[in-house]
Amino acid sequence: MSDRYRLADRIVERIEELGEISETPGMLTRVCFSPEHRRAADLILGWMRDAGMAARMDEIGNAVGRYEGAQPGLPCLMLGSHYDTVRDAGKWDGPLGVITAIECVADLARRGLRLPLAIEVVGFADEEGVRFSSTLLGSSAIAGTFDKRLLDAKGRDGLTMREAVLAFGLEPDAIGRAARKRCGIHAYIELHIEQGPVLEEKDLPVGVVTAISGASRFRIELDGRAGHAGTVPMTLRRDALAGAADCIAAVERRCCGVAGLVGTVGQITAEPGATNVIPGRVSFSVDLRASEDQIRENTIARVLEDLREIAARRNLRLAIAKTHECGTVQCAVWLREQIAAAIKAGGHSVTELPSGAGHDGMAMADIADIGMIFVRCRDGVSHHPDEHTETADVEAAALTLLHFIENFKPHTEPRI
Ligand code: GLV
Ligand code: MN
Ligand code: MN
Repeated sequence: MSDRYRLADRIVERIEELGEISETPGMLTRVCFSPEHRRAADLILGWMRDAGMAARMDEIGNAVGRYEGAQPGLPCLMLGSHYDTVRDAGKWDGPLGVITAIECVADLARRGLRLPLAIEVVGFADEEGVRFSSTLLGSSAIAGTFDKRLLDAKGRDGLTMREAVLAFGLEPDAIGRAARKRCGIHAYIELHIEQGPVLEEKDLPVGVVTAISGASRFRIELDGRAGHAGTVPMTLRRDALAGAADCIAAVERRCCGVAGLVGTVGQITAEPGATNVIPGRVSFSVDLRASEDQIRENTIARVLEDLREIAARRNLRLAIAKTHECGTVQCAVWLREQIAAAIKAGGHSVTELPSGAGHDGMAMADIADIGMIFVRCRDGVSHHPDEHTETADVEAAALTLLHFIENFKPHTEPRI
């Protein structure tokens, strides 16, 4: 192998460049409708134009680039991923899919190749849902399933989504116009780091995703009574944080020992929040996922029963709000076959694996058949600054996607 990779060198350079755009120096955090969102979008739109695409920001802040086919206006093969991040994120989760797709289009353009279909690349504005505890905002807008009630959701800076969208320079009531028609999209393909250890264990750079696990998220509030930490006897307390601790342990207990089932409490706030005050009010998140919907639904029922029992026993007021729900989404068999063929053409063995993480494809499945290519990442680490993918694996992934695009055969039979 030469000491330069054909496609990967520029992809990695751009991963680094985009990774510098953060609200906090030295730590990557980029949430939707922020100044960093705007700077990242401008950079991505510029890369799309350099690659020969017509590029624009859509009504929810997605960066959308279009490379016309042999004639203008043909239905497209849509490629994409997201460019928002979690807090203290790695650089690869999301951007690898956006940047690799742009680089594949740039390669077609350099060779003057026009296909019998258009290629669109979408950088989705919000997949992680960090700012408003909702997720898949960008892809649900394109799929036409954006829930307008979310515009009233408040972030921790006190702004509602409606206010944040306006401050960003977009019109909240126009978000519906980002929706695309099913007949204009042959398929949606997302390339993404695996975020788990399977490919590493199998010593493979890329793999074919079979399905994306369903997920449900809740915001739980417990109200007790704040009081003096030195004077209120233990038997007379209504400590909301001690109650939350029981609830968190219950979530963990219910999710242990069942294959494909995971449960996480990742956010918690306690008020009033002082060493010498009994916490009177607690709010926390619950994220439950399973590869089978029935298992997830049964677990939700049991966890909520536990929470009600704990709240009643501790004399706490309990409020439960569901903030997200998405069933398990299958990747279309016909796309899995074409991805597998592209992997084989690169000289790699083909392995299939499910995705435990959520992806924009979950929302896009409402409007198109979806397929996903996973890329090995070091130690399976993700949602962490140590997230890393080797340049050789980026090259293998880019060549797989490029081969897939050039050999893509649209499917006209009934779906899946
Ligand atoms: C997205 O990264 C998710 O799976 O939560
Ligand atoms: Mn993520
Ligand atoms: Mn992601």
